[in-house]
Amino acid sequence: MGLHLGDIAPDFNAQTSSGEINFHEYLGTGWGILFSHPADFTPVCTTELGKTALLQEEFAKRNVKVIAISVDPLGKHAEWIKDINETQHCQVNFPIIADENRNVATLYDMIHPNASATATVRSLFVIGPDKAIKLMITYPASTGRNFTEVLRVVDSLQLTAKYSVATPANWKHGEDVIVVPAVSTEDAIKKFPKGVQVVKPYLRYTPQPDLK
Ligand code: BEZ
Repeated sequence: MGLHLGDIAPDFNAQTSSGEINFHEYLGTGWGILFSHPADFTPVCTTELGKTALLQEEFAKRNVKVIAISVDPLGKHAEWIKDINETQHCQVNFPIIADENRNVATLYDMIHPNASATATVRSLFVIGPDKAIKLMITYPASTGRNFTEVLRVVDSLQLTAKYSVATPANWKHGEDVIVVPAVSTEDAIKKFPKGVQVVKPYLRYTPQPDLK
């Protein structure tokens, strides 16, 4: 059976470029991102892992731990990390799982047989502090993901978790957010002291609540 939003992210033990880990212990009490790529020493993957490494500070600010996975062995990961650091001008300091036997790839349905019988597609899971899956995206091997977009989604998810707000289409940090339907306008006015703009009874905006 496939995974769904809200499911508890399956736990596992795995060998990684940073030693053996237990996934849930690695995540601890914060947020997590698990993302797969098809193979080591491939061009798009090299840029993706480099971009993720360059954004490490941004992930850390949001209390997000990142972990990558491919079905290549540990020795290959170690050699490839040197190339990523050299070519992308970064330091990869998050673990890369060596999933040679495809245990984790199978658990997370990362192998799509009609795309490739053996390699993982570009799956990405955002996992909340409650270990529930908050976001799943799947890209084909030929399209590198936009990690600035991944950060934007994390910002949205964290605002929802803390303030019961949603974010509109193309929302960017600093722009007005939407009061979720479950909150009445009367309660929203009490909850959001910066003000509530009622465009329609079901479409209500308020300034981003965590900004001064
Ligand atoms: C890549 O990671 O560069 C890649 C992998 C498979 C197909 C195309 C590109």
